[in-house]
Amino acid sequence: MVERTLRSGRLTRGPMVEAFEQQFRDYLGVRHALAVSSGTAALHLALLGHGIRQGDVVLTTPFTFISTANVITYVGARPRFVDITRETYDIDPNKIQDSIDSETRALIVVHVFGVPCDMKAITEICEDHHIVLIEDACEALGATYKGNKVGAFGTSCFSFYPNKVVTTAEGGMVCTNDDKVMEMVDSLRNQGRMGSEWLEHAYVGYNYRLSDVHAAIGIPQLRKVDHANAIREEKARMYTEALKQYRQVKVPPHVEGRTWFAYVIEVDERDRIGKELNASGIECKPYFPPVHLQVPYRQLGFKEGDFPTCESVSRRALALPFFTKITRSQIRHVVAAVGRLLK
Ligand SMILES: Cc1ncc(COP(=O)(O)O)c(C=O)c1O
Repeated sequence: MVERTLRSGRLTRGPMVEAFEQQFRDYLGVRHALAVSSGTAALHLALLGHGIRQGDVVLTTPFTFISTANVITYVGARPRFVDITRETYDIDPNKIQDSIDSETRALIVVHVFGVPCDMKAITEICEDHHIVLIEDACEALGATYKGNKVGAFGTSCFSFYPNKVVTTAEGGMVCTNDDKVMEMVDSLRNQGRMGSEWLEHAYVGYNYRLSDVHAAIGIPQLRKVDHANAIREEKARMYTEALKQYRQVKVPPHVEGRTWFAYVIEVDERDRIGKELNASGIECKPYFPPVHLQVPYRQLGFKEGDFPTCESVSRRALALPFFTKITRSQIRHVVAAVGRLLK
């Protein structure tokens, strides 16, 4: 498919992008899917598409990849973080309500590691307070909440970075049921063009297009995404079964509808254990450090103690090696190494 695309000469804005978008729309059950150059671009455009701008406040979680928060600052809005639940690591709906004021215009929820957020509570809050709902579903392609695909509740964003289940090397998708948002995102991803004239621009836009070569890489993977997610679930179960013997290890939640972007445990002395695992050739990462404690957010005034649940999880969370093709014996090898390092 990639070779065919290269030979066709239609390298961008061509049939492969259209086919990938169509396939994505059908998979998710949404009206519009717009392919873009990354998950970060998708989030940026989602905010712009909803008219979020200077002076607005956007709520989000501090337990995420930094770009979820960065895009809020890109549009001149202010991020306001809301702490997470201990059980799911997702934003805590009970704490969202208290963070809303007259300046709050949007909420970006993140389905962290593939665990669906409590979408019933979240959609109710957004409707009650007339707040735009954006789902950062970058880690949750295929996950469901009460049988409905995440990413179909609000305007949503996906990433196809290589650590994702479907990867196009770099890439992303904005999905929405809102025709106006679709039009704006479509224009802004393509230098603010509107209409057929190539050199007429209605907005200050961006080059956030996905090429047809990248789209061609995604199409066959998206066909198999449910199968890949099922295999990952099986691998996650193997890990959990094997780790259950160690009471010092908190295994990740096996909640209904989740997918497995990563396999993240909680453990005391995470830094020592992580370092020793890495030294022995088992690659693992502290995942995620709190966004509000990263330099640019400290400069905005955020500090230790602001979001205690996030900080506590972040101190203990360790992502173990996890990928679709990991074998049972590799999992056993990792678990045995973790076991040896526990006190
Ligand atoms: C939760 C989350 N949001 C946003 C992104 C950004 O996506 P990208 O790297 O494609 O820009 C990622 C992944 O990298 C992510 O995991």
